[in-house]
Amino acid sequence: MRSFHFVVVLALAVAISSPLAVAQLKQNYYASICPNLENIVRGSVQRSMQQSPIAAPATLRLFFHDCAVRGCDASVMIINPNGDDEWRNPDDQTLKPEGFTTVIAAKAAVDSDPQCRNRVSCADILALATRDSVFLSGGPDYAVELGRFDGRVSTRNSVNLPHGNFNLDQLTGYFGSLGLSPTDMVALSGGHTIGAASCSFFGYRLGGDPTMDPNFAAMLRGSCGSSGFAFLDAATPLRFDNAFYQNLRAGRGLLGSDQTLYSDPRSRGLVDRYAANQGAFFNDFVAAMTKLGRVGVKSPATGGEIRRDCRFPN
Ligand code: HEM
Repeated sequence: MRSFHFVVVLALAVAISSPLAVAQLKQNYYASICPNLENIVRGSVQRSMQQSPIAAPATLRLFFHDCAVRGCDASVMIINPNGDDEWRNPDDQTLKPEGFTTVIAAKAAVDSDPQCRNRVSCADILALATRDSVFLSGGPDYAVELGRFDGRVSTRNSVNLPHGNFNLDQLTGYFGSLGLSPTDMVALSGGHTIGAASCSFFGYRLGGDPTMDPNFAAMLRGSCGSSGFAFLDAATPLRFDNAFYQNLRAGRGLLGSDQTLYSDPRSRGLVDRYAANQGAFFNDFVAAMTKLGRVGVKSPATGGEIRRDCRFPN
């Protein structure tokens, strides 16, 4: 009995201290507060995507960078007048403006409904806009857990993100620190099925990396000489599909951190599975995005608020 109590107390302690410990998120959180929320956000994201092909990948990356730093609290969107904020860290400076403007446009659309005005957090709008960016790019549709509050703090030094030259141990260690498993990490890396990277992130691989297809390297040298960037999934750069994993099998992963998922035998089986079975990738991606969306969620009791302007604490 004593040991049973110990196990229960230990389990509670882990649950309370875990970054995934959030009781308040639920799928129908805004059902009575803002019943038309999901339609409003989807319509707005659709318009943003019509205006710019970069809107969807930029929004998906913004969600990751938000959740990974101080939790999913839209702190990445805060502009501090003194210049000390997350997006002015070099790792966030490459976030494309289109992600921010997609969320700001969706927030304006939500606030134009009198019932919803200033009652939906920027963090939740970002989570919904991300799901819609994935779905409208051809990826899975999925129910998003809601009820996040917006953070009030954003500092340059709090940014700690994975880098494109990370090896598997560094990647699993990083995602583990967020409470995410190695499978979550491999599935989330599939986010690189849309969007692009500057040559500064992979140029070091073009001088004879044995894990890169030499024809692909030659093509990239051409892109880097002209445009200075390349698509993360050269096969279908704006379509959310499993081509990213098929590319890895062919030595056509752009970032070192992506190609290592296939080079390292410990994750190769999962890459093979997702390359062969898009449904398996979509299922695991949705599960991992749901877990990512629970990281460090704020409530009013922990200093959260519903920001009126996503760029500034109230
Ligand atoms: C596994 C560790 C990861 C590393 C090392 C990494 C690194 C990078 C790098 C270097 C870029 C190029 C940035 C630029 O040139 O501006 C990029 C772009 C991108 N990342 Fe990641 N990333 C990781 C995980 C993720 C995750 C988990 C997601 C979302 C689920 C994601 C979504 C994206 C998207 C969509 C882009 C393209 C952005 C655009 O075109 O604007 N990344 N990532």
